[in-house]
Amino acid sequence: VNLLASSFDWKSGDEVLVSEKEHNSNLLPWQALARHGVSVKPVAFGDPDALAKAISGRTRLVAMVQTSNLDGSSQDVRALAKVAHERDVPFLVDAAQSVPHQEIDVRRIDADFLVCSGHKMLGPSGTGLLYGKSHWLARLTPGYVGGGTVKDASYDGAVFEDAPQKFEAGLQNYAGIHGLRAAMEYLLKVGRSKIHDHEVALNGQLSEGLASVEGLTILGPHWKERCGITSFSIAGMDPHQVSLLLDQSAGIATRSGVHCVHAYCNARKIMGTTRASLYLYNTASEVSYFLDALTKVVGLAR
Ligand SMILES: Cc1ncc(COP(=O)(O)O)c(C=O)c1O
Repeated sequence: VNLLASSFDWKSGDEVLVSEKEHNSNLLPWQALARHGVSVKPVAFGDPDALAKAISGRTRLVAMVQTSNLDGSSQDVRALAKVAHERDVPFLVDAAQSVPHQEIDVRRIDADFLVCSGHKMLGPSGTGLLYGKSHWLARLTPGYVGGGTVKDASYDGAVFEDAPQKFEAGLQNYAGIHGLRAAMEYLLKVGRSKIHDHEVALNGQLSEGLASVEGLTILGPHWKERCGITSFSIAGMDPHQVSLLLDQSAGIATRSGVHCVHAYCNARKIMGTTRASLYLYNTASEVSYFLDALTKVVGLAR
């Protein structure tokens, strides 16, 4: 995202539209463009009509998450991209939480750009992917430059390579890239529709089980409309305390806090949640173990 943000020829007054539920990774790089006079506007999550109303003559890009890491809800990025394209505005999808969990077809979505992270798909940390339509990549002037990005250079300027080389400045993280490739090949072999079905089944078991935990509220929609992320809060308990107790009493790793979605949580006074995330390696007996452990933790705290 930073690479893209640094590669557009921004003009003062330009706007970038994001959804209201963006991870900081798809919010702060656009906010940092304030130094070029660019502003960022949030749009209601999953609402193509709100997007249509929000797009103005100043809108240069719509950049939106597909599946939220905060509550596992998804938005129809294909419908949102269509709205952006009707106004000749390119559309970027943050697919960090969707690519690892379901089949994604960039052509069907008609995304101009799509980004995702290696560490969410069994790959090494610090790796990721940027997809871009070739005509868009050809138009952009790389913001990070250096060795490997040019055909030729003189004291007066440089002739850039074509994409993707022009964006790959300096020696690349080859070990990480090979690790990411191995992870992607593994996921393709297992099959993401199989992974998706597995997660849906476990998420149903988890969410239905959580319904009987006293004082527990799940953030976000019904589990049938959520991916394998379940964010919850328990009345009278701090989310960090819940995570700590689950870790110390049962060796279960959950995440607590606002999950890098500060803007949305601050605007709604959500003080934080405990988040349990499921993936292909989790099992039904682990979900039962989790539910037992959580029930004990809540019982002890009462
Ligand atoms: C939806 C979403 N977008 C972006 C990111 C950040 O990715 P990265 O750490 O690769 O910048 C995350 C989580 O890390 C995420 O959940």
